[in-house]
Amino acid sequence: MGQFERKAVSAICFGVSLAFAGSVSAGTFPDFGYAPPSTDFKGTLFELSQNYPKQLPAAPLPAFFKLLPSPLSNNFETWRTYTAAVGKYCLEGNVENDWVVQKNPVRHWYHAPWQHYGPLGREGIHGLTKEAQIQTKQLAPTQVATGQTYAVGIYNDVGGYTFGEVWKNPQNPDPSYTTTPKSFHDGTVVCKALFADIDLAQVPFLVNPVLWRGYITDTFHSANRTIKNVALIQMDFAVRDSRIPGTGWIFGTFQYNGAMTGKPGWDNLVPVGVQWGNDPEDTGDSYTNKQPVVTKINPDLKQTAINANTKELPPTHLGWNGRLDGPVDNPVSACMSCHLTAESPQLSPMNPTFQAPEKVPPVGSKEWMRWFQNLMAGTPFDAAALSTDYSLQLAGGIANFYEWKCDQGGVFVNGGNACQQANTQLKLRKAATPQQPKIYKIERDPVLEQLQ
Ligand code: HEC
Repeated sequence: MGQFERKAVSAICFGVSLAFAGSVSAGTFPDFGYAPPSTDFKGTLFELSQNYPKQLPAAPLPAFFKLLPSPLSNNFETWRTYTAAVGKYCLEGNVENDWVVQKNPVRHWYHAPWQHYGPLGREGIHGLTKEAQIQTKQLAPTQVATGQTYAVGIYNDVGGYTFGEVWKNPQNPDPSYTTTPKSFHDGTVVCKALFADIDLAQVPFLVNPVLWRGYITDTFHSANRTIKNVALIQMDFAVRDSRIPGTGWIFGTFQYNGAMTGKPGWDNLVPVGVQWGNDPEDTGDSYTNKQPVVTKINPDLKQTAINANTKELPPTHLGWNGRLDGPVDNPVSACMSCHLTAESPQLSPMNPTFQAPEKVPPVGSKEWMRWFQNLMAGTPFDAAALSTDYSLQLAGGIANFYEWKCDQGGVFVNGGNACQQANTQLKLRKAATPQQPKIYKIERDPVLEQLQ
């Protein structure tokens, strides 16, 4: 490339940075990576809610904070009112507006940037990202076919404020805002709706489904996308609450049970439970339950509370040795076990089993339990990284950003240290996720389009 061309390229890049500089607002970050073909989809496309608040909201604590049980008990009934109130907080004003959260008349919600990029990137109908494969019999004994999961997460204004800080300079995300001594502020609430692409006839609790259209891959291992129906199966939440000893966070989840009301609706979401720590002392494996016929509740866990009402909750697998997990989560993990690893750069995999077989430590060993320790909000999982405070979307978004920035065939030749980190990280991610499809094509990358 000659001198002139190089200049031209950097001028373009500079143009982009200029457009990016200053305050983050609509249009700063791409909305999605995979646009449905206009011949097949005529509706409104997904827009990223990205007008992150510039000031910490004046009254950051949601009303449900008053409902936190005391003492924190593993009896789910003491959590029932709290959990229901968080669920309502997530859904109010969103269900009526088909999760176009910008239209919510009750409260503001925001999406995480940089989830559009890569093979798992956001699709253009609901902003769904591709998650995991659903293994056979993971949901019910009758489920003999595999499936795949898609999801969309949203942050309330308190969480959105922190996103705005980290991404203030969209060309240089700064996770020092979420690493100790800083962290997400008290009152941060994150909700995530998860959808299954699976043969519904094989999953009894998905009767009367809530269906969304999604521009998704044919199967988990495919890169080819079409518009398909996906069924609401799970809703997660995470709440930053400094009253919680050891972690400063509460995670919780709901599972769909279409028999509850007998008709499709978000009110069919029933609580699975809550988790506010990883129970580092519990090293057993006897409650792990990969192919559930019943829900196995481990009474020894002190920091997980599971809904024991079997009329409400269909048989479900939970996480490693009974820690909290949702139906489409990995049964040898747990909510806070995965989320504990959220950091930038991502130096460790999310689960001890996401490594080359010879590196997987024995179940319950000291090395294994590294993934089941309790870390206070803002504490990095690896000393050489900065914490993204239990937010895997923040960690993944920053990783995607550097992957994009450093992968652009010499456009950003001077990426330097950040690119070296990104490359290490990329290798780690590839090693850690052997089940991910190897070949993918980005059908539309709005950031690249701006550059071209
Ligand atoms: C196998 C690892 C894993 C497990 C187990 C897991 N998550 Fe996540 N979670 C992720 C990843 C990766 C993301 C970010 C990607 C995305 O949202 O698409 C995420 C995103 C989220 C988000 C959006 C905000 C954020 O932190 O990125 C919430 C809220 C959440 N998960 C809650 C839960 C809850 C509650 C559970 C347990 C019921 C759970 N998760 C179990 C990996 C996991």
